[in-house]
Amino acid sequence: TLVKSKEMIDLAFKEGYAIGAFNAENMEMVEAIVEAAEELRAPVIVQTTSGTLNTTPPEMFYEMVSASAGKATVPVVLHLDHGDGFERVARCLRAGYTSVMIDASKKPFDENVATSQEVVKMAHAMGIPVEAELGIVGGKEDGNEAEGLAYTDPEEAQVFADLTGVDFLAIGIGNVHGFYKAEPHLAFDVLQAVREKTGGLPLVLHGTSGIPDEDVAKAVRLGIAKVNYATELRATFTEAVKAYLAEDSQVIDPKKYNSQAKRAVKALVKQKIQMLGSAGKA
Ligand code: 13P
Ligand code: ZN
Ligand code: NA
Repeated sequence: TLVKSKEMIDLAFKEGYAIGAFNAENMEMVEAIVEAAEELRAPVIVQTTSGTLNTTPPEMFYEMVSASAGKATVPVVLHLDHGDGFERVARCLRAGYTSVMIDASKKPFDENVATSQEVVKMAHAMGIPVEAELGIVGGKEDGNEAEGLAYTDPEEAQVFADLTGVDFLAIGIGNVHGFYKAEPHLAFDVLQAVREKTGGLPLVLHGTSGIPDEDVAKAVRLGIAKVNYATELRATFTEAVKAYLAEDSQVIDPKKYNSQAKRAVKALVKQKIQMLGSAGKA
């Protein structure tokens, strides 16, 4: 069932588990994510970045996800990940997305506030929840390489939350998009301080691929209620295609290697859902 994200994430936050938010690039990944959630009775989020939507438009993803969610009995959210501006968000809202993110985190604080406020006004008028970001998540998402890392400032987080009225906040605590070049070290003290300052605001972890499961689980205990995975899913899909082609280089039918890739992504999503504690919560 296609639903909005607020109730789902608020409940996870209150009860101390997290919703898995998985980035899809195609139909097989959408189905892998929804089927994994259905088999584990887990609420789940399917999300697409702005870059993904430059390749496959939001109207197309809406049709795929609503069809897939319509077959499932668990709640499924379709979320815009790293929305890159007002127009992008507006188009996704028109397409039927049930949750959106605006990411103006690379802009100065005041501009981030102003942009997030505008998006909140539009989305909330349609009853759709909004995620925004404060602090810098390192690495590359959609080709935007962040300059180093900037931890979220807890005081700023409180002001940002009050001024914007966002529903969820993505934070920078040493997390990096893509695989990690050095061993990841999450600043759990910063997470704790942000949580104390922002009170009832569910927090979002980006860049989760490459972070050891036990660190992710600890972050969830400390107030992370939505956990984003993209790179591990993309890599798993592609490795499965490569393995299939290595076995049979004569194959010409995409449904053959795509089915194998879908199975591999589904297994990975199931393992992450178990670890996040959301299995059996739907
Ligand atoms: P990873 O690619 O590191 O899993 O990050 C995912 C993400 O934050 C999507 O917004
Ligand atoms: Zn991200
Ligand atoms: Na990562």
